[in-house]
Amino acid sequence: MSNDKDLFKNIISHSKEYGFIFQSSEIYDGLSAVYDYGNYGAQLKNNIKEYWWKAMVQMHENIVGIDSAIFMHPKVWKASGHVDAFNDPLIDNKDSKKRYRADVLVEDYTAKIQGKIDKEVEKAAKRFGETFDAEMYKNTNPRVVEYAKQISDTEARMKKLLEDNDLVAFKQLIDDCEIACPVSGTRNWTEVKQFNLMFATELGAVSGESETIYLRPETAQGIFVNFLNVLNTSRQRLPFGIAQIGKAFRNEIVARQFIFRMREFEQMEMQFFVKPGTQKEYYEYWKSARMKWHKALGLGETKYKFHDHLKTAHYADAAVDIEFEFPFGFKELEGIHSRTDFDLTQHQNLSGKKLQYFDPELNESYVPYVVETSVGLDRMFLAVMSAAYKEEKLEDGSERVVLAFPPALAPNKIAILPLMKKDGLSEKAMEIFNLLKIEHYCQYDEKDSIGKRYRRQDAIGTPYCITIDHQTLEDNTVTIRDRDTMLQERVSISELNAIISKKCSWIGLMG
Ligand code: GAP
Repeated sequence: MSNDKDLFKNIISHSKEYGFIFQSSEIYDGLSAVYDYGNYGAQLKNNIKEYWWKAMVQMHENIVGIDSAIFMHPKVWKASGHVDAFNDPLIDNKDSKKRYRADVLVEDYTAKIQGKIDKEVEKAAKRFGETFDAEMYKNTNPRVVEYAKQISDTEARMKKLLEDNDLVAFKQLIDDCEIACPVSGTRNWTEVKQFNLMFATELGAVSGESETIYLRPETAQGIFVNFLNVLNTSRQRLPFGIAQIGKAFRNEIVARQFIFRMREFEQMEMQFFVKPGTQKEYYEYWKSARMKWHKALGLGETKYKFHDHLKTAHYADAAVDIEFEFPFGFKELEGIHSRTDFDLTQHQNLSGKKLQYFDPELNESYVPYVVETSVGLDRMFLAVMSAAYKEEKLEDGSERVVLAFPPALAPNKIAILPLMKKDGLSEKAMEIFNLLKIEHYCQYDEKDSIGKRYRRQDAIGTPYCITIDHQTLEDNTVTIRDRDTMLQERVSISELNAIISKKCSWIGLMG
């Protein structure tokens, strides 16, 4: 069994060994922070997309979906503020030559202090037993109070520095906190600089006539620039939303933790257009609706928490993250942002086109406000994968690795396994495969012992295995084995479609 430290490593190697995720261009030693999804990975990813699309578009009468292009007019990124403000503060360590995000170094520093608080509380809880009041202890124990003050002072200082874009003072903060490079262990830092995260490329083949364009760093702008098109063609009225799933690109300084932070990734975003003044109400609505969507997957109630942003992005008046407990700790999974009328107003000003909504009740036009929900598809994948991955010791002393995916998300729903190749069992099994394949993703496998085949299906997260044996030839029944309980029951072939449909249904997830 793995300890926490090994767990993440094991998930990464399992993802590769079983065809979920491969390093991009691996035969050329890979491309940093770019990954390919393999045979099972692509299917799991599609199912996560479907879960999101169903919940956001299909289940809302007032949300429609689009699919806009990755390339957009360069003025889009000027208007959105990304050309001027989509920067991360970076700092290099002169000894290790490693580059870091300065704000991440400070966040890691405060997380360490938080770790000390947690340890003190844990020790005290053991000492005082059942009567222990953790909140009271945190508010009164001098050492814990001092630690908490260090955290809040540092966070407040960083927030102000980021707002003022004061990079000299930022370097001073890193010096004052005595932050050392995790690799070299030294505090020999360069100055803090701003680094724009957009990838630029050229449009147009003739030299001198080309134009610099950007690979989109978020899908949201494709929604904003289509606001009028959708409004005029969808018969929607405010409040209504536009959703899309698509690729985004960022030249991340610190690209690490597998598919958590990539340079090419996918977002599932929805912009909800509302009447100015009502944005707070919808912000709260979407905060709770999105948390409910995550929790419905059953990955664990305690694995999620909200984290309010210290520094809101240049376009937002309120922002919160839904954090998930990844194997390396709680980190951002989804962002919910109250984006005001910033984007539409900016596009209106730069394009000269009116991006307004005529409100028939007020008999006036205005630029709507926007509440955005934005979740990384790859991060969702990692959340699902890491919660599903289990190393289990079985009663007979053997071990198995199982991916306990929610059945609706599993890449294959059913494995069809003839007990042996002879006596017509393979042919009967293929008949069943052909019967089920229209409605369900099935995998046919006749190689190796039945025990080995069950283990293999557990390892790729197939929720149900159907075994075809000699009795099947006599009475048209098969056994169906449950991945999680490993229990088997005998059912009639004619019932299979309905049984699998029920077990793998989206209904339980949609609430
Ligand atoms: N339109 C708003 C926006 O893009 P964001 O917080 O920068 O906001 C939204 O990104 C989500 O996209 C994040 O919560 C995360 O899940 C995902 N994301 C952002 N950068 C990513 C990266 N480099 N790799 C993988 N996912 C990323």
